[in-house]
Amino acid sequence: MSQRSCLSVILAAGEGTRMKSAMPKVLHAIAGLPMVAHVVKAAEAAGATGLALVIGHGTEEMRKAAQKFAPKAQTFVQEKRLGTAHAVLAARQAISKGYDDVLVMFGDTPLIDAQALASARQKLAEGAAVAVIGFRPPSPVGYGRLIEKDGRLVAIREEKDCSEDEKKIGFCNAGMMAVAGKHALQLLDKVGNKNAKGEFYLTDIVEIADAEGLDVVATEASFENALGINNRAELAEAEAIWQTRRRREAMLAGVTLIAPETVYFSHDTEIGADTVVEPNVWFGPGVRIAAGAKIHAFSHIEGATIASNCDVGPFARLRPGADLKQKAKVGNFCEVKQATIEEGAKVNHLTYIGDARVGAGANIGAGTITCNYDGYSKFFTDIGEGVFVGSNSSLVAPVTIGKGGYIASGSVITESVPDDALAFGRARQKTIPGKGKELRERFASAAAARKKAAE
Ligand code: UD1
Ligand code: CA
Repeated sequence: MSQRSCLSVILAAGEGTRMKSAMPKVLHAIAGLPMVAHVVKAAEAAGATGLALVIGHGTEEMRKAAQKFAPKAQTFVQEKRLGTAHAVLAARQAISKGYDDVLVMFGDTPLIDAQALASARQKLAEGAAVAVIGFRPPSPVGYGRLIEKDGRLVAIREEKDCSEDEKKIGFCNAGMMAVAGKHALQLLDKVGNKNAKGEFYLTDIVEIADAEGLDVVATEASFENALGINNRAELAEAEAIWQTRRRREAMLAGVTLIAPETVYFSHDTEIGADTVVEPNVWFGPGVRIAAGAKIHAFSHIEGATIASNCDVGPFARLRPGADLKQKAKVGNFCEVKQATIEEGAKVNHLTYIGDARVGAGANIGAGTITCNYDGYSKFFTDIGEGVFVGSNSSLVAPVTIGKGGYIASGSVITESVPDDALAFGRARQKTIPGKGKELRERFASAAAARKKAAE
């Protein structure tokens, strides 16, 4: 099948008013990726070689977004929403290029998997002119029904046009279908709008093709595949299903999730075998974790690269550009941004490391802060191999601490420190014998005098 060319036409012209959003519906995200981008990914995984995106609402925003998630897609504007067949025909110019298969998909049905699409394409490879993806929802109300006769699919009837008997059919149209490219335009051009809604229904091509003696078939997919998103409750439902699928996939690939239902993946999270993820961990976009890492509870990680055998959290925050090399450790209440933590270095407690490098084997004490920003620009802190930074130190960038350097705790370091030097950057301690006792007595008698005056 792989040698057959395939155009995916993705319908996304709907307004999506029920989202109650200023943003087009199909740009709302699942696992951090616009739902229409999930549809694009499924199309590509099913072998689509061309992509046509039919838009009609928020066109500029849609075009801009499409450049990111589907740079090769051609966009077509459907000026008036006259129905699904009309929408597909908005992409006439792409269809007329003569693809073997035309795969019609909906931008608001993000959980469709490549397998369901590939099965429909397979039917075309076997000679069908139209292959409709069907499913059996818990309740068929609102869906188009698949009307079969002698084992053939002869029509799809929309709910509003169904007879009482047809309404009893449980096998429904998921909405998506594969159409042989050589028949697509002539079938679509024959679709009229004489129905209850006065729309040009894509589904009518089933009856038209059957009447022409062409082979029309239905394949069956699971309910999830056809889940359409109309409001934010359904968006959350789709997110939950997506996360469940991804967690299972991670576990089957060798990742331990102690409480899988509390771990949230991004669409692009990469995570190696034998990594253990404790409960309540959030992965934002751009995270890559090698094998054998430990991610402790309540960590928030995005845009970070974590090498093998690293130890992260609990309560760690890794922001974009955090790059942890082998066996690095970032402990509780630490934030790392745009910084490399070299092999075996430790940033264990209550620390901010931003725009920095922490050399191999260095030890960063509790409460250390890289002061990387003066309100206008960001500056770099370079901490050499084997450095020891005492607790509660401020490293004011730009600053370099040479290999083997030693920073006394409580220091404010504003000048670079050479290799193997000891640096203090704090006031010297003064100790006055007996002064503590004297102060205490003075304060106590002042308090007693005030109390007496108030009586
Ligand atoms: C459609 C199917 C129905 C199926 C159901 C599954 C038709 C006629 N009906 O019905 O059989 O059971 O999906 O969810 O195809 N769109 C446009 N331009 C238009 C009209 C629609 O881009 O002019 C897009 C919408 O944005 C949406 C998709 O096409 O993404 C489906 O349209 P919608 O109106 O939701 O179709 P349904 O009535 O749900
Ligand atoms: Ca719909």
